Amino acid sequence: MRIDILTLFPEMFDGPFNASILKRAVDRKLVSINLHNIRDYSHDKHRTVDDYPYGGGAGMVLKPEPIFEAVEAIKAQSHSEEGGILPVILLTPQGRLFSQQIAVEFSRYRQLVLICGRYEGVDERVVEHLVTDEVSIGDYVLSGGELAAMVVADVVVRLLPGVLGSEASPADDSHVAGLLEYAQYTRPAVYRGWPVPEVLLSGNHAQIARWRREQAILRTLRRRPDLISKASLSPEERLLLAKCCSS
Ligand code: ADE
Repeated sequence: MRIDILTLFPEMFDGPFNASILKRAVDRKLVSINLHNIRDYSHDKHRTVDDYPYGGGAGMVLKPEPIFEAVEAIKAQSHSEEGGILPVILLTPQGRLFSQQIAVEFSRYRQLVLICGRYEGVDERVVEHLVTDEVSIGDYVLSGGELAAMVVADVVVRLLPGVLGSEASPADDSHVAGLLEYAQYTRPAVYRGWPVPEVLLSGNHAQIARWRREQAILRTLRRRPDLISKASLSPEERLLLAKCCSS
């Protein structure tokens, strides 16, 4: 996969993309991440990228020309990409709420363009005529889309085949099946008098799998009851829940 990120602050990405799983994915060429400074596409010697809003009001608005031209330059570079649609995603608090499901959807594309908004917003013509999707990472306002783009890139990249390796699988992750993940333990078996649940030491894999599944369901019910109705549960599990909620 190729991810192109348009930002006014490319240096913000140095940390997250140079450590851990993202770095390993880049090193192994499972993903290439290309940062583009929107300012490089400005038209004047002051490298202006924003302007006052028409109609007045506080703050500055990102101008359309540099953003259109940056995306067009990216599209020209990737012309060989068999004519499929190129998702151009604007990170904005006004977008649809990012989720594991949306990450799975994004992970199926060969290329993504992420535009990091700044200031009071982006000229609406960018949204109407260039952007194919608007995404928010939560109901709060960041100083810009950069941190949101990092979150989206991280969540998508770890879904790409080969990124996590065989030792770890995203299948049990929280939110993958619409449930939170079960509790995890490692050695020592007893720490400060607190024991690891007996079943995990039993070596009985079927029993462990059953326990974990039950834990995931109960934990989701307690912490995120809003997720339960959409989770994929068997009829027996629904019954268990019904009993558990009525008592
Ligand atoms: N830019 C500012 N706040 C944001 C948010 N919550 N999600 C995505 N982009 C943003």
